[in-house]
Amino acid sequence: MSFPYNDVVLEHFKNPRNIGSIKDPDGKATEGSPACGDMVSLYLNVDPKTLIISDIKFESYGCASNIATGSIITELAKGQTIDEAKKITWKQASEALGGLPSIKVHCSVLAIETLRAAIQNYEEKNGLVTEKVDTTVEVITKRLKKVMNPIKGLDMIRTNLVKDISVKDGIVDILIDLPENHQFANAIKSDAIEKIETLWDVKEVNVTFTE
Ligand code: FES
Repeated sequence: MSFPYNDVVLEHFKNPRNIGSIKDPDGKATEGSPACGDMVSLYLNVDPKTLIISDIKFESYGCASNIATGSIITELAKGQTIDEAKKITWKQASEALGGLPSIKVHCSVLAIETLRAAIQNYEEKNGLVTEKVDTTVEVITKRLKKVMNPIKGLDMIRTNLVKDISVKDGIVDILIDLPENHQFANAIKSDAIEKIETLWDVKEVNVTFTE
């Protein structure tokens, strides 16, 4: 069987660089693709003085193209400052891989978005965010669009898992339409908290369940 992938893509798919996770990373993110339901997690450590990415690892539940892009972007980002790494585009990643089939472009976009989200997570945790937008229900909704509902394989907003969101004086309350003892309740709750708690003006995040 011949694959529509070139040798570079296949080589990165078979021997991905920087695969795995980092324990207690300085920044991390998990992003899912609405196009295919796949997910990518990315972990990074940053030198606080130089803001250079000293270590970076990724895990992918995506296809060969996604794994190859994850591999190449970790290679491109390692040793770069966070500002330089933020500018890496999916086009650069695709070029470094010698090109990807057009139907697989969203897979490399997902990998790049995850890298940017992990950098953003580092910046938020370290007070490096310059654009301080007030947290509103819209901001929270946008963030929750990045939290997967594993029951459906799409995000928790699109699948109507969120019944209510309120934001007042830095306290965020989120009501989820699931029984508290559901097998995915804890995972969804911690993913949601992780996405919200780093916002600069958020003091507390409470996630409750309808039953
Ligand atoms: Fe889902 Fe490639 S098809 S990441």
